[in-house]
Amino acid sequence: MKTNHIIEAQQFSREWLEKELFPLADEMEKVARSKGSNELSGKRMVSFFYEPSTRTRLSFHMAMDFLGGRVVFSTENAREFSSAAKGENIEDTIRILSGYRPDVIVLRSDKEGMAKTATEYSKVPIINAGDGSGQHPTQALLDLYTIKKEVGKIAGISIAMMGDLVNGRTVRSLSYLAGKFSGIKIYYISPETAKIKDDIKDYLRRHGIWFEETNDIRKVAGLVDVIYQTRTQKERGTSVAYAKDDFCIVNKEVLDLMKKDAIVMHPLPRNDEISKEVDKDPRAAYFRQAENGLYIRMALLKMILAG
Ligand code: CP
Repeated sequence: MKTNHIIEAQQFSREWLEKELFPLADEMEKVARSKGSNELSGKRMVSFFYEPSTRTRLSFHMAMDFLGGRVVFSTENAREFSSAAKGENIEDTIRILSGYRPDVIVLRSDKEGMAKTATEYSKVPIINAGDGSGQHPTQALLDLYTIKKEVGKIAGISIAMMGDLVNGRTVRSLSYLAGKFSGIKIYYISPETAKIKDDIKDYLRRHGIWFEETNDIRKVAGLVDVIYQTRTQKERGTSVAYAKDDFCIVNKEVLDLMKKDAIVMHPLPRNDEISKEVDKDPRAAYFRQAENGLYIRMALLKMILAG
């Protein structure tokens, strides 16, 4: 599969993940742990972020650096520190950015669909680094890579995806991507006010993927291989109200219910939805997960830019 724009999780095939991306990410870890390489020497990245980021932005920059390429322009707050502040729209912004001929644009947008719109106006590949409450495809790639590394397989596993499922883009992308593997079971855990949207449920039904919804992680903690926790997306402007019988946190009580070889994941940043007491448990995989983002993003940049 030729990699060009990276916009949504549905665009990837299981075969490409298993035979191309994951093995290359393994190689990239070795490159990052040694001196790096010059494979992307002469290649230029623009990273244009309309929303704050620590992991995605820095790991893309580090990925470029480890492969010998350059980040020639970056903004972490394009609404304030670019001509978006003067009212310039995304279409014109992308025409201008891509007209200066970088080799790739990494774009985090604050509105669903903006990354896809950008592809219509760009002369160079666009990587969607999160578009509002739409998708975060590179996060889903590193999430599945983490599951493969930590659990040893993806097909046939059970995942509990929990938290603000109505606003969270990572669970949307991960649902699409995990659904490519046979025998996956997904439990969605959320309060009534933050349930996963119908478009994802329709997709899962159409593709024969088993899922169930509940409001208490304790009911399923002992059944799953992965608990994928997410935070409330306060920046989306909607509030998530919890009822008395909702239980959507990961703490010692939940750890005690989990299988010995299950893992806890989180795209981060976290607030208080995973207690700090969980961090010292070897099943807490979220910091290893974030590190895997570097290797996956190095692999993606190499695929898009090398040769
Ligand atoms: N997981 C993630 O996208 O984190 P950042 O917002 O820090 O990039």
